[in-house]
Amino acid sequence: MEQTLSIIKPDGVKKNIIGEVIRRFEANGLTVKAMRMLHMSKEEAQGFYAVHKERPFYDSLTDFMCSSPVVVMVLQGENAISLNRTIMGATNFKEADEGTIRRDYATSVESNIVHGSDAPETAAWEIAYFFSALDIMA
Ligand code: TYD
Repeated sequence: MEQTLSIIKPDGVKKNIIGEVIRRFEANGLTVKAMRMLHMSKEEAQGFYAVHKERPFYDSLTDFMCSSPVVVMVLQGENAISLNRTIMGATNFKEADEGTIRRDYATSVESNIVHGSDAPETAAWEIAYFFSALDIMA
């Protein structure tokens, strides 16, 4: 069993598809082990995406991520990290496979509805960014 961090980004929350996104995770074998809604500050968004701080899209991305509330979750399942990214679809929604969340709902490369950790080390770091061990169900 593996755990990964998922975020329903501001555009997903605004589109009123929190339930639909979680339904897709659950229908495909992922289980929610922790969940909360929060409205990040600019500094919190910058800290979360610090890995991208030299990229040209960093300022716009972090503005977007703190523009309105998000839902953060710990998802668990077999191969949860890659399974979650398969359910999400490619970063660029135009390249995302049919039936993926981003293909169905994203409206730009930036406004792409969901975040998912991309490797075990980043998953551990990202989960700890938002949750303490006591917040995560056994
Ligand atoms: P990245 O970690 O490459 O993608 P993913 O979310 O699929 O792991 O990039 C993080 C976010 O940055 C991405 O979801 C959307 C945004 N982004 C842009 O706005 N422009 C870009 O050119 C890229 C690559 C990403």
